[in-house]
Amino acid sequence: MSSKKETAIEQDDNLNEIESLDREFVFGTWSYQSEVSPTQIVRAEGVRFTDAAGNECIDLSGQLMCSNLGHSAEAVAEAIASQAREGAYFAPGFTTEARARLGEKLAEVTPGNLSKTFFSTSGTEAVEAAIKIARFYTGKQKIVSRYRSYHGATYGSISATGDPRRLMAEPGIPGMIKAPDPYAYGSTLEPMQSLDYIEEMLMLEGDTVAAILVEPIVGSNGILVPPDEYLPRLKELAHEHGALLICDEVMSGFGRTGEWFGCDVFDVTPDIVTMAKGLTGAYAPLGATIVTDEIAAHFEDEMFCHGHTYSGHPVAVAAGLAAIEAYQEDDLIDHAREVGSYLGERLVELETDHPSVGDTRGVGLFRGIELTKRKDEREPFGRREHKISKGSTTVDEVAAEAYEQGAYVANMINTLIIAPPLTITEAEIDEAVDALDAALDVSDAAMDA
Ligand SMILES: Cc1ncc(COP(=O)(O)O)c(C=O)c1O
Repeated sequence: MSSKKETAIEQDDNLNEIESLDREFVFGTWSYQSEVSPTQIVRAEGVRFTDAAGNECIDLSGQLMCSNLGHSAEAVAEAIASQAREGAYFAPGFTTEARARLGEKLAEVTPGNLSKTFFSTSGTEAVEAAIKIARFYTGKQKIVSRYRSYHGATYGSISATGDPRRLMAEPGIPGMIKAPDPYAYGSTLEPMQSLDYIEEMLMLEGDTVAAILVEPIVGSNGILVPPDEYLPRLKELAHEHGALLICDEVMSGFGRTGEWFGCDVFDVTPDIVTMAKGLTGAYAPLGATIVTDEIAAHFEDEMFCHGHTYSGHPVAVAAGLAAIEAYQEDDLIDHAREVGSYLGERLVELETDHPSVGDTRGVGLFRGIELTKRKDEREPFGRREHKISKGSTTVDEVAAEAYEQGAYVANMINTLIIAPPLTITEAEIDEAVDALDAALDVSDAAMDA
């Protein structure tokens, strides 16, 4: 039998001691482990962080599109510390002031008659709860979701996910049906044609669908903004066929779009909304699934057959309450709308200056830059299959160069995802856009002749 030392992975001379330890003993997510190369962050303040090698970066993606309050939200840090001192954990059958008040706050900031919340610890779990609630409430099983979507990592949520990460988990749970997306730049269907397709699907399924689950503005699959009339019509279609509309606001929620939620951009009240990420500004892991009065009432005398040890974890809900108070007191939703339109203008300038920028799109501080190697044909550098294959693409190289230039930007398939903390200023946007401007020379140079 070989010892742990003998089976240890190859050393990478570019990693410091901590990074090497991490590389050896901790799984990197969604990766071939031989390609994992962790970067140790040692400090973070405002919209910036510093790594162990001394590189300082503007966090242009708010880490994983979740650090909506930036890295210095003192009130949230204080709420966490003080709840941990007063009592870090009580079972879900007990409550705390923060849990009750956060439930009330979520009813206040979400649209319409969304009123009662189930708390979990992640976006994945928020979606799992939404799927179960929709099935319990309607008595039906099927969930329609879309191909260009991400809804989570566990079996239910990855089965609802349309992106290629689902393929590794197939066949998944039964009853999960996929539909096309409103993706004007990259789909063979016009956005509203994709909705006609869903209408046809619902008709052919003969009213056996429990819910349609969508990100109102698609996040990690490329920042896809539907036409204004899409989401209202989708809700009508769902209801005409006895199905619920679930909006997954895990990424698009909490001011990201310049409104509280993505569905607010389209004036739609879904039947169920899932949240996580910005709910605590990423200061603590917390997921939430809120439902309308009618759905809440159903469970008065039907069992709500769901729960977790950490449902409503006191420290996490204290973080959530403090985060929402910070959004409100610092007027961050309005700020995101204002600086978001400035960001949009600056990205259009990049599109004008760089032939490899095929499209820029988005709302508020939720924007994407899609790259192309042949502009006329909209030929992408990164394809869906690259999401689960080894190696890197030109899009990864652009992101790496942006980091060198002082801006951290996440990239997914063929799109750079721009989703900075809502606290960002126009001057910081300018600084980050300068870094992107330099980095996009990499994709310009890699275009087909
Ligand atoms: C729209 C959406 N839903 C669900 C999830 C899953 O959330 P988590 O990673 O917190 O489990 C994500 C994560 O990126 C997401 O973007």
